[in-house]
Amino acid sequence: MSTEMIKIFDTTLRDGEQSPGCSMNTSEKLQVAGILVDLGVDVIEAGFPIASPGDFEAVKQVGRQFGDRAIICGLARCLPADIDKVRDALVDAEKKRIHVFLATSSIHREFKLKMDKNQIVKTAVEMVQRAAGYCDDVEFSPEDAARTELDFLCEVVEKAIAAGATTVNIPDTVGYATPTHYFKVIRHLKDNVPNIAKAVISCHCHNDLGLAVANSLSAVEAGARQVECTINGLGERAGNAALEEVVMALRTRQDYYDCDTRINTKKLYPASHLVSSITGMTVQRNKAIVGQNAFAHEAGIHQHGMLQERTTYEIMRPEDVGFRGTNLVLGKHSGRHAFKDRVSQLGFNLEDDALQNAFKDFIILADKKKTIYDADIVALVEHRLVETADRWTMRSFHAIGGTNVIPSATVALSCEDQAVPSDAATGDGPIDAVFNALERTIGIEARLDEYQVRSVSSGKDAQGEVMVEINVNGKVYHGKAVSTDVIDASAHAYLKALNRADADRDAPVVEFGSTELVP
Ligand code: KIV
Ligand code: ZN
Repeated sequence: MSTEMIKIFDTTLRDGEQSPGCSMNTSEKLQVAGILVDLGVDVIEAGFPIASPGDFEAVKQVGRQFGDRAIICGLARCLPADIDKVRDALVDAEKKRIHVFLATSSIHREFKLKMDKNQIVKTAVEMVQRAAGYCDDVEFSPEDAARTELDFLCEVVEKAIAAGATTVNIPDTVGYATPTHYFKVIRHLKDNVPNIAKAVISCHCHNDLGLAVANSLSAVEAGARQVECTINGLGERAGNAALEEVVMALRTRQDYYDCDTRINTKKLYPASHLVSSITGMTVQRNKAIVGQNAFAHEAGIHQHGMLQERTTYEIMRPEDVGFRGTNLVLGKHSGRHAFKDRVSQLGFNLEDDALQNAFKDFIILADKKKTIYDADIVALVEHRLVETADRWTMRSFHAIGGTNVIPSATVALSCEDQAVPSDAATGDGPIDAVFNALERTIGIEARLDEYQVRSVSSGKDAQGEVMVEINVNGKVYHGKAVSTDVIDASAHAYLKALNRADADRDAPVVEFGSTELVP
């Protein structure tokens, strides 16, 4: 038997983006879509077009730019207006899919939808038919499938396939399933739905019990041929199955699963970094595959084994996932060529302009810092990759603190390239004062929920990376910035988060979990 290919359906831009504080603007979504096609994902779920004009525009542009390299998918509730919006958003995409969902579990039927089983089946069938009238690639998801009565799940799935669904996704919406249970659900469908062979079975697992990846692998074992996942496991609550973990488990344990994916695993590490930079959601150090410690062998006994024979303690090579710590350092006298080489060795493709600007940043950094490590270059390149035209930009700031002074700061910003008068504020310390002055200038009151500083590399002159999480009117926004000066990094991270809140001020949003299902 030949190795079977599992389709990777990435939902970083839809389910991942629904995670609090991870919203992305269109240009950030295009950056992520770019890395997803480079990775080789089969399907990109680019958004939920009815949710807001911004979502619609993002799906449209992702479809236009990348619809020849991956199937671009848009999500719709079982409402005609939702489905029509996806059709319109995907108008320019060469390869497209409409993804229609409707909850089927008794809890959702009774308390959310207030619909009985017959109404659910009727609505699902009508809406799948509507979608199939627009596009020959239709995915149907019975939301909360893992908690749905098996007989009813079989009935809905069978009728959705008969109505035109080409993929049937079996979501574990609330992360309730366990590996053996989920295996049985998928196997039951495979064995009991008469027309199941006409559709691809897909799995979609949330990580509330920390089992999303294990459940996805169980689904593959039971016969699922599409896995829905996100970079870094981003997603609502505890997140979705992490793409990098599913892909590396299938690749590393091909001997067992006899399955593989089309993913270029050497791009996993840069993809993880990029998504973390854009969303401000840091990756835990000991995260499998892409965490900083994933390939660190500290214990003496491990190091000894590794030196004798790598495979004693290593089941994957760091370079297989694009983790290429070269341990070579660059400095002030390293030329453009050396810089360019290192950037591409680290797995990044930069357009000429971005490379040029990153090199300028490198020269400035090399003036402040004797030794430039790979981590410094990654931080610098990512900054250029993720830079977007923010409405508010920093012209200058000044902050003072210390003993026997009242900490204060003055900031001078531009708004859409027009200088606005500088403003000042005091605070508990110089960083707090800068944050207050930024809020005053922009006119947004925010609550700081999280503030983290970490050193990008080693040494006293190391760059500091600051991540902030703020709450504005109940919505969460992230910001991240890097500098050799932590006050500067803090100011830019906070400004980034405020820019996101500002961009969101007037955006009307349709809630994903909205109970409105009848037009
Ligand atoms: O978790 C879920 O049920 C979903 C569906 C829309 C597939 O995200
Ligand atoms: Zn989900």
